[in-house]
Amino acid sequence: MPKPAGYNRTQIALHWVIFLLVAMQYLLHEYMLEAWQAIGKGEVLAFSPLVASHVFGGILILLLVIWRIAIKLRRGAPVLPASESRLQQIIAHATHGLLYLMLILMPISGINAWFFGLDLAAQAHSVMRILFLVLILLHFVGALYHWLYLKSGVMQRMFKAA
Ligand code: HEM
Ligand code: HEM
Repeated sequence: MPKPAGYNRTQIALHWVIFLLVAMQYLLHEYMLEAWQAIGKGEVLAFSPLVASHVFGGILILLLVIWRIAIKLRRGAPVLPASESRLQQIIAHATHGLLYLMLILMPISGINAWFFGLDLAAQAHSVMRILFLVLILLHFVGALYHWLYLKSGVMQRMFKAA
């Protein structure tokens, strides 16, 4: 895979738009859960813009992440700083890989639950939301560690295109 000097504008924009959409998925999850439980009790649901925003926001995340992966495969991503130990690099790569996996599996499990009524998919969606949150926190702490302690310039790479 190529190793450019930094992320380009599209990669940076996609990172932050996806971050905002994921934050919205978590902040508005209660409405989705209530709707799902009501369906389970056989109730007929009225249209809710908040439920629709979870469904379409989640599908949008899936489309944007496919675009993001396509760019990454063609353009690559910058190398991690040489000052990082081998272990830190392995953790960073593993976290990034698992974040991509969650960005794909969360919408796919949600779609299977919502559109095809698969209870197992709903259970997987619910379990993965915790794993995804832990990964996001780990990633956030890693970014802060680079920015405030190592002062390595890694944080700036997600703000300034190169
Ligand atoms: C990255 C995208 C997504 C994230 C981060 C996300 C996050 C969440 C969270 C945090 C919950 C609450 C779960 C609980 O408290 O047990 C939830 C529930 C739910 N979401 Fe999503 N969601 C995403 C995409 C989608 C999509 C695309 C759909 C459907 C098209 C969907 C359908 C559902 C359904 C049916 C529930 C209720 C059942 C359950 O708890 O699993 N989600 N989602
Ligand atoms: C939903 C939340 C987030 C997700 C899913 C996410 C996902 C990712 C992924 C997959 C990468 C790797 C990009 C690549 O090389 O292909 C990345 C890089 C990065 N993220 Fe996030 N991110 C999130 C939130 C954040 C937050 C809150 C911050 C900082 C406050 C942050 C800062 C960074 C930085 C600085 C990089 C560049 C790392 C490097 O150059 O090696 N991210 N993010």
